[in-house]
Amino acid sequence: MTPLSMVTGGNRGIGFAIAEGLLKLGHKVLLVARDEEEAEQACADLNGDVHPIVMDITAQGAMEDALTRAVAVFGDIDILINNAGVMHSDELAELSAGDLQSSFDVHVKGPAMLTKAVLPAMLDNNFGRIINVSSGYGSFAEKLGGPPAYAVTKAALNALTVKTAASVPAGKNVKVNAMCPGWVHTRMGGSSAPLTPEEGADTAIWLASLDEDSPNGMFFRKRKPISW
Ligand SMILES: NC(=O)c1ccc[n+]([C@@H]2O[C@H](COP(=O)([O-])OP(=O)(O)OC[C@H]3O[C@@H](n4cnc5c(N)ncnc54)[C@H](OP(=O)(O)O)[C@@H]3O)[C@@H](O)[C@H]2O)c1
Repeated sequence: MTPLSMVTGGNRGIGFAIAEGLLKLGHKVLLVARDEEEAEQACADLNGDVHPIVMDITAQGAMEDALTRAVAVFGDIDILINNAGVMHSDELAELSAGDLQSSFDVHVKGPAMLTKAVLPAMLDNNFGRIINVSSGYGSFAEKLGGPPAYAVTKAALNALTVKTAASVPAGKNVKVNAMCPGWVHTRMGGSSAPLTPEEGADTAIWLASLDEDSPNGMFFRKRKPISW
């Protein structure tokens, strides 16, 4: 059976590299982007069993419609990679309510609503992987190092990971984990970052391809567990 994977923020950066890596593993990939041309261009660049899905993960009604259409055409999603992200770099004194809200919408609301939509079929089918692309900046253990809107909402994405993983009944082959890609050379990470998008994508691709004995409800970097 060819796994069907959905990657949000797939048009560039780490999401594009995750899509590329999953294609190399033989997955069918639904590449999610908010801009139609960018989604189509990314699929053309990848040149495999990859299909553009136009979706703004923060617009709930439109997101649900796009997901319903995608499932009707391609079938149930086996693997969801919640990768889309946004970084507003203002410190607390300058933080705007709008930036905090948009960070929450991209990092928490979108992943939560997508998870809610795909998880029931994963449980029915007794197969599913949900990988939340988080950050060390969202780790209490690493002192929530990033700008406030980013750190707080990535910490909330980590909480969503734990909460969703805990909702999976024992014995089900459905795994929900978070990962930190490291500091990656992308539009978000900037040109000084030491890692390539392919290196940043590696742990997400690894988590997507683990077997039934794999962990549920954990946080990883470089394929190793890290603390929340
Ligand atoms: N780069 C790093 O060093 C680093 C470190 C730790 C964690 N991360 C995490 O890794 C993930 C990917 O980051 P990246 O470095 O590849 O960043 P990037 O190059 O800036 O890409 C971000 C992606 O998220 C998409 N996105 C943003 N808002 C969206 C929305 N409302 N709906 C749908 N898609 C939306 C963007 O789409 P548009 O093109 O339409 O804007 C883009 O595809 C993010 O979750 C980020 O927080 C990155």
